[in-house]
Amino acid sequence: MLWGALPYMVIVFCITATIWRYVTNPFSWTSKSSEMLEKRLLRWGSLLFHIGIFAVICGHIAGLLVPIEFYHWIGLSDEAYHMGAVFGGLPAGIIAFAGLVILLVRRYTARRVRATSSVGDWLALAMLIIVIVTGILATSANAVNHSGFDYRTTINPWLRGLLVFQPDPALMQTVPMNFKVHILLTFVLYCVFPFTRLVHMLSMPLGYLRRSYVLYRRRDGAIYPNQNQEQQKERAM
Ligand code: HEM
Repeated sequence: MLWGALPYMVIVFCITATIWRYVTNPFSWTSKSSEMLEKRLLRWGSLLFHIGIFAVICGHIAGLLVPIEFYHWIGLSDEAYHMGAVFGGLPAGIIAFAGLVILLVRRYTARRVRATSSVGDWLALAMLIIVIVTGILATSANAVNHSGFDYRTTINPWLRGLLVFQPDPALMQTVPMNFKVHILLTFVLYCVFPFTRLVHMLSMPLGYLRRSYVLYRRRDGAIYPNQNQEQQKERAM
């Protein structure tokens, strides 16, 4: 149940609640920028968090979705892989964590930011910090213990099985508790996601990548560039 049905229940809940929010309350779909209220700490906190989390996500894709056979095929030894995961993944996690701590301190100390904070804002920050800290602890413990545990032969195929609707919960049996806790806490994060400002990550500004419309307003007040003078006069009347 925990490693077979639960992940699907969480994902269905997350998707349904997200669509429900988009449909019933589209104007709440925003990153709710508070830049106007405080800038200095936001700049540092947001920058560090976004750089760190981007690297963490890339690391998760490489470690959890790419099969171990691929690394063997390109001749990357297990030692080299784990060195890369620890010395690349840990700094990325710590940078994201540092950014979140700055954002949390800002939300608490900047009077106007605190006054406009909702429960969802605090919850999003708290859950991100908890998930990131448990990830850092699991990675560090694994590096220090030399237990021989390799998530590329357990968590990795379990996750890929889920994605192709062939779940195999048995793969999670030998996974150390700290990794299980990390993953279960991400489930909580996915459940609170639809009710927080985190939804803005689904609306990445892809429009910036292509040329968008430019609306020109003429000195005489006409704002419909494709209409001739008669049409514009008619509209004005
Ligand atoms: C189902 C989803 C997830 C799974 C299965 C998962 C699994 C893992 C695993 C196996 C590691 C160890 C990596 C290593 O030792 O090299 C790890 C580390 C970590 N995880 Fe996750 N994770 C998930 C989602 C997340 C999310 C959503 C976040 C952040 C919001 C996160 C943040 C971290 C961090 C910061 C680390 C430590 C540093 C790093 O390896 O990048 N994880 N996770």
